[in-house]
Amino acid sequence: MEKKTEDRSPTSRAVVTGCGSFVPSKLLTNDDLARMVDTSDEWITTRTGIKTRHITNDGESTAHLAAEAAKRALQYAGLTADDLDLITVATITPEMVFPSTACFVQQILGAQRAWAFDIAAACSGFVYSLHLVHQLIANGRVDNALVIGAETLTKITNWKDRTSCILFGDGAGAVVLQRKQDAGRGILYSTVGADGNFWEALNCQAHGSRNPVSRPLDNPDKVFMQIKGREVYQQAVRRIVDAVTDCLEHCHLTLDDIAMVISHQMNARIIESAAKRLNLPDEKVFINIQNYGNTSAASVPIAFDECVRQGRVKRGDLVIFVAFGAGVTWGANVIEF
Ligand code: UT7
Repeated sequence: MEKKTEDRSPTSRAVVTGCGSFVPSKLLTNDDLARMVDTSDEWITTRTGIKTRHITNDGESTAHLAAEAAKRALQYAGLTADDLDLITVATITPEMVFPSTACFVQQILGAQRAWAFDIAAACSGFVYSLHLVHQLIANGRVDNALVIGAETLTKITNWKDRTSCILFGDGAGAVVLQRKQDAGRGILYSTVGADGNFWEALNCQAHGSRNPVSRPLDNPDKVFMQIKGREVYQQAVRRIVDAVTDCLEHCHLTLDDIAMVISHQMNARIIESAAKRLNLPDEKVFINIQNYGNTSAASVPIAFDECVRQGRVKRGDLVIFVAFGAGVTWGANVIEF
């Protein structure tokens, strides 16, 4: 079921006023992985585009990464933690089962006025969050929000499974969304969707109510993330193409109007294949998966932050964010930065 929202009121736009990202310093290269499982730099590079990824140490957790990205986004926006009304964290690797990771971020930042909650939509979590927080801002319930995507997927990675362990990395990205009166820019449109029939394509089955910790798992590997890569691959290309096409058609835009399409970084081949079908020129497709691997909900805001800091996206540019992930879920946002 797909839901769409257009902001028709120029007086209540949710404007992106800041961005920031943070990744742990420890690196895991393809050659490192080739010493752990039967794989090679050549296979990983050719099939995924990934060369290296950043991974957390034991002492580093999702809230830690999220808070560091948040501080950078706040600094960019010229706000302090006291200015925040709301903090959301999109994550499937939360600090713990509860409380929410967003509450830990609120504590670290000292954002005493902010309410806080997590959003679980896997790799689409950040795109979902922008759609949701935009509604709260447009309705006048929130003025200043911190929207974060943060993951430590390597904590649920099966390092013996070569089909999945080569794919993922850790990191966090954040944007500040502010209600601005009469601002021409902001979040212009969002499209989001889900299809739970495909839950088995990507999942982590342990620690929930279906497989409680009080009962031994029928398969010990269920404690880790499990993926059916080929199944995901085919759907991902189609959903990304459809979501971007929806954005262009609904907003009466052409590719000439768009400065950059920033896709969730799940596999360079998936992004390139979708871009080809959309006739997107290379310079309008941002790919940084070679440095980070797949960071799930963090990948779009990390990529956006890099684009902005490299000057590839400037104030006033139109940008499309697009994502696809477990659930399955998908979505896209059109943003005038
Ligand atoms: O963000 C959402 C989460 N991301 C995903 O779910 C990933 C989406 N899928 C993908 O990125 C790709 O499907 C993969 C990178 C996971 C796999 O690439 P592929 O081109 O779809 O390969 P494949 O699964 O069809 O496997 C081809 C071969 C198989 O061997 P056989 O059966 O042809 O003999 C695999 O066993 O490659 C083998 N293989 C590997 N070989 C070396 C699988 N993983 C590896 C590996 N190193 N790490």
